[in-house]
This record gives sequence, structure tokens and C-alpha cells, in this order.
Amino acid sequence: MTCNPLVDPADQRVPRIPPPCALTIFGVTGDLARRKVLPAIYDLANRGLLPAGFSLTGVARSPWTTQQFINQAHAAVTSGARTPFRQRVWEQLTASMAYVSGDIADPSTYAELRQALERSDRDFGTGANRAFYLSMPPSTFAPICGHLASSGLAQDSTAAKVVIEKPFGHDLASARALDATLAQVFDPSAIFRIDHYLGKETVRGMLATRFANQVFEPLWSHEYVDHVQITMAEEMGVGSRASYYDQIGATRDVMQNHLLQLLAITAMEGPGSFGAADLRRAKENALAAVRLAGQANDCAVRGQYTAGWQGNIAVPGYLDEPGIPGGSTTDTFGALKLEIATDRWQGTPFYLRTGKRLGRRVTEVAIQFSRTADQVRAGLETRYMGANALVIRIQPDEGITLRVGAKVPQTDMEVRDVTMDFSYGHAFTESLPDAYERLILDVLLSYDPLFPGAREVDESWRVIDPVEQHWASLGGPPDPYAAGTWGPAAADGLLRRDGREWRRP
Ligand code: BG6
Repeated sequence: MTCNPLVDPADQRVPRIPPPCALTIFGVTGDLARRKVLPAIYDLANRGLLPAGFSLTGVARSPWTTQQFINQAHAAVTSGARTPFRQRVWEQLTASMAYVSGDIADPSTYAELRQALERSDRDFGTGANRAFYLSMPPSTFAPICGHLASSGLAQDSTAAKVVIEKPFGHDLASARALDATLAQVFDPSAIFRIDHYLGKETVRGMLATRFANQVFEPLWSHEYVDHVQITMAEEMGVGSRASYYDQIGATRDVMQNHLLQLLAITAMEGPGSFGAADLRRAKENALAAVRLAGQANDCAVRGQYTAGWQGNIAVPGYLDEPGIPGGSTTDTFGALKLEIATDRWQGTPFYLRTGKRLGRRVTEVAIQFSRTADQVRAGLETRYMGANALVIRIQPDEGITLRVGAKVPQTDMEVRDVTMDFSYGHAFTESLPDAYERLILDVLLSYDPLFPGAREVDESWRVIDPVEQHWASLGGPPDPYAAGTWGPAAADGLLRRDGREWRRP
């Protein structure tokens, strides 16, 4: 039987129900758990995708009872879930919910958790199949895993899994140290490094666009592509995450993971198959070939937002946000010029940028093609025509735009830019699942193609470390940019020096 490598066995439309499992969320009172993880778990329950033997245990410092946890989870689910609220589903889910209040550094927290999980095995048939989701700051990952091991919670069980949020470490050395700690406790196949961008339908769709279409793949190289721009822009500021964000900054928060993963998927060679091992190898090889396109000073820009306007709302600067220490030098904007040392991409720069409080919320990958040769265009009036571009809109307004030139009617041969547009919303009736829903289900199923492997993480830090070291050596504040704009002037300079401009998404 031949196998179509584009068919993902997990995508069969027959629902995949995981085996019985006890899911524990550390940091369950935090922003991520409330906004994303709890609503996703409810949506899975509502869609009938959780096993009958399932329990959900929250761990955090707040001195709540289980009932208070359930009340908070209810608020999170009613405001964040994508599927309608159904009392029957909610009651089923809450019946298995428990809360453990405690400090993650205190062994008694794990003793209490152990009792809760043993109760779960007894009452809900979760069968010592445990998944621990660490929705916590990176500095806590290693100590929590140490305690899971010493309390026997991970080692006793036949199938303990751990889900680690990004960023995985804060540089290459700490990522490797964390790997070593995890390896003492968990089997490599039980470690799920989460990067929720890989769970986005549109990011997975990029693979199909590239490899299923004969029309794109032959053009996908330095011969036809002038440069690539990857943008992840957010309107929101640091919000209620000051204590996390100020330790991390934009470059570690999203450039090291989400943006470099988008780059890897854009730049990689065709994988042998779309199974976990081949896909990972293709991304690893792409990331291993990524270089800063020069000295950090010349190809990296950092910024920090100052007061400005988001639409018609006046918003404070980063330093005036609640919880941000005066004089913080944390980057809320980062831009990089990278190159990829492969035959396919020699001489084609990849520009990456991300920031909070930018002009609008948008994530896109724009492949900017070279212009056709002058002699080919001779006789055409192309003054008002830009270069062709393929823009993959990851979010919002998910879809793909191809910008090409077309003759303006009733002119002699004047050519202007027009767009050919595909939008998921128009083309498909199926809705786009939430990334966390997909990824949590994959963890419960032990299905891991969408989770970055250790080497991908290492290669990403290898790119980012010199930039962070350079910025640390400079000290001083990042370049300012007013909230609601598209970043500091130096970011424009990064492209202008090369005779290029950032797209205005
Ligand atoms: C997270 C970052 O990984 O991604 C946040 O930690 C950011 O700072 C978020 O706001 C954005 O996710 P999305 O899916 O809304 O683009």
C-alpha cells in the first residue's frame, strides 16, 4: 500500500479518544491556564473527546478550596470556551476536578497531590496514567520535575508525561540543563515542549500549501524569492503578565519559538513524510542552517513601547504598566535579519519582527518574490506595480493572498497590483480548532509531531543567544516606539539599508 505523506493519521475524522488519564495543571490560577488551557479542556469535553476516565487537578499557591477552583474555572470557561456552555458536560467535568493549594518548592504540596491523584485513580479509573502540565514561569520547570520524581509521582506511574510551556530555558545552556533534569525523570517520548503556534491550523496548513501545490514549490528558493518577512504583531500590551514578561521580553517570549518555528516551516526541505520524526528532522536541519546576517549590532533591533494610542484609547507606556519596575530594559519589540546557509536560500534574507502594542494584531509569513527582469517587462508600464508576494495569513482573517500584477482596463499596458485571495472562512464550513485544544488532545494521545524536539529548541537558542548577549552588554533602554505604531525607527532602518521596506499588514 502506498502512503500519502500529506495524510496525518491523527486527522482522520473519526474522533480520537485518549486512554484514561489524570491531567494536573501547575499554575492553574495563571493567565495562560485561565485564558487558554481551561477553556480548551472544556471544549474537548464538550466535543466528547475526553476519555470517560478523566480527572483534572489544579495546583497553585492561592489558598482556594476545590469549590473555589471550580468557580474560577467556570468563569474562565464561560468567557473563553469556543463551544456553547452545557450544564451536563460541565457537571461531568467538575465531578472529577480537585485543587491542591501549595508552594511548588514544598514537598507537602506533592504529598497532597499524590493523594488527589490516587483518589482520581480509584474514583475515576484514571489508572495511574498521568500528565503534568507546567503552565508556569521557566525558572520553575526543573524544581517541579525534581519534586515530581522525589515524591514518586512521576516515577511510580507507568505513563507519566510532562508538558512544558515555552520558552524552554532562557538560553542554550539552561535549555540543555533543563533537558538533563527532565531526562532523569521522564522518558524522552513523554516530554512535550509546547509551542502553541504549531497547533494552529493555519501553521499546519503551510505544509500543505508548500508541498501539495506544484505551483509554489518550484519558486520556493533564492532564485525567485527576494526575501521573506515573518511578522507577529500584537495590539495588546503586557496586560496582567508583568512579572512573567519583564523577566523574558519579546525575543525570548515569541521570537525564539513561534517565529523561528514559522521560519523553519517556511525554509525547510521537503520532509520524507509528515510523521513526527521526518518533520522534526526537516525543521532541525533548517534551524541548524540559520545564521544572524552579520554582527548582532547590525542585524538585531529591540524596542520598548511608550505611551500612545490603540485605536482611540490612550494606553500607557511599558514602564508605566502595573508591576513593571522603573527603568526596566525588557524588550517588547524585536526584529532580526537572518540568513539560511542552504543551497535553497543562499542570499535570501529572512526578516523577523514581533512586538506588543503594534498597529494591529496580525501574524503572517510574506514571501516576497524578485521582480521580473527589465527586458521581460519592457513595454509594460509597471511603475505602480510592486513585486509579487505570497502572504500566508496565520491570524486573524486566516488565509492566503497572492499579489500579482494585472493590466488596468482601458490603459495601453499599465500594470497594477491586484490580489488573489483564499480565506478559510469562505472556503470551508469547518471552523478552525483552537491550538490548545489540539495540542492537549495530542498530549493525552501521546501523539507528538506538533511538539518541537530538544534539538529544535537548542538550535533556536543558538540563534537568539548572541543577540540577547549583545543587548545585555549594551545595557541601557531599548529603542522607544509609541504604542499603536509599527516599532522603533531602527527596525525600518534594518530593511531600508537593504533597499527594502516592511510590509504594512
Ligand atoms: C504567547 C506569548 O506564547 O503567545 C504571549 O507568551 C502572546 O506574549 C501569545 O501574547 C500570542 O498568542 P496568539 O495565539 O494570540 O498569537
